[in-house]
Amino acid sequence: MSVSRQSPNPDTMSYAVRPMDERDMAQSAEVEQDAFPTLFPPTAFRRELRNKIARYLVANRKDEGKTNSAPAPSESSGSTPLFNRLVSNILRRRNSAWQPGQEFVAGFVGTWYMVDEAHIVAIGVRNEFRGFGIGELMLIAAIEQATQLESRVVTLEVRVSNFVAQNLYKKFGFTERGVRKSYYTDNREDALIMTTDTIQSPEFSCQFEELVQAHQSRWGRAERMLF
Ligand SMILES: CC(C)(COP(=O)(O)OP(=O)(O)OC[C@H]1O[C@@H](n2cnc3c(N)ncnc32)[C@H](O)[C@@H]1OP(=O)(O)O)[C@@H](O)C(=O)NCCC(=O)NCCS
Repeated sequence: MSVSRQSPNPDTMSYAVRPMDERDMAQSAEVEQDAFPTLFPPTAFRRELRNKIARYLVANRKDEGKTNSAPAPSESSGSTPLFNRLVSNILRRRNSAWQPGQEFVAGFVGTWYMVDEAHIVAIGVRNEFRGFGIGELMLIAAIEQATQLESRVVTLEVRVSNFVAQNLYKKFGFTERGVRKSYYTDNREDALIMTTDTIQSPEFSCQFEELVQAHQSRWGRAERMLF
């Protein structure tokens, strides 16, 4: 587990994490379309929100509903009014479910809790909002939730070709534990199984806390409402 480099940032991040609710379903479907374009059938979010073993969190813009301005990825990303306008235009052109003045959802993470394992079934960020610490923020929230629900480990599957996601997981101490051959139905690609060590251990907690602090130093403090 390595701690990332730090860069200047404001006190607070523009994005926060909270549980997904029914109002987020249309935007979450958009995020899924961006993040997993070949996924079929798409996730039935209404059913998932009632699934007793599932917990879904969204990363939403904090001043949601209070402004008509474009949903900039992060104040700390150096976004300019021009950049904000560009993002806003992209979303409008796509006929996005997001409209100015409404809540804006940039990403979501879903976890299934099975016995003593927290299994991350999906984590995704809208294309234009990647690289601004939002995926990492959601992974932090998912691990914190798993810790509070007393899971032993956090585990997931990831495409062997998906080095971006693998980097994120490795940063947080996930290691390869096996391969599921031809796991993905679109191209029969193999999946790596990646799993943490015991998340309740003092060693994991200590390294995790360092990573949370590094994220905060780099991107600003982010609110995380887990339940
Ligand atoms: C994977 C994903 C969720 C990451 O979200 P993100 O908001 O772009 O990531 P962050 O900005 O928080 O970056 C966190 C870490 O991810 C890794 N990462 C992010 N972008 C990367 C890139 N372009 N190249 C390599 N690693 C990258 C790095 O480890 C990074 O930490 P660092 O900045 O200290 O190097 C996002 O790329 C995504 O939605 N991808 C499509 C869906 C997907 O593949 N989901 C995972 C399925 S298992």
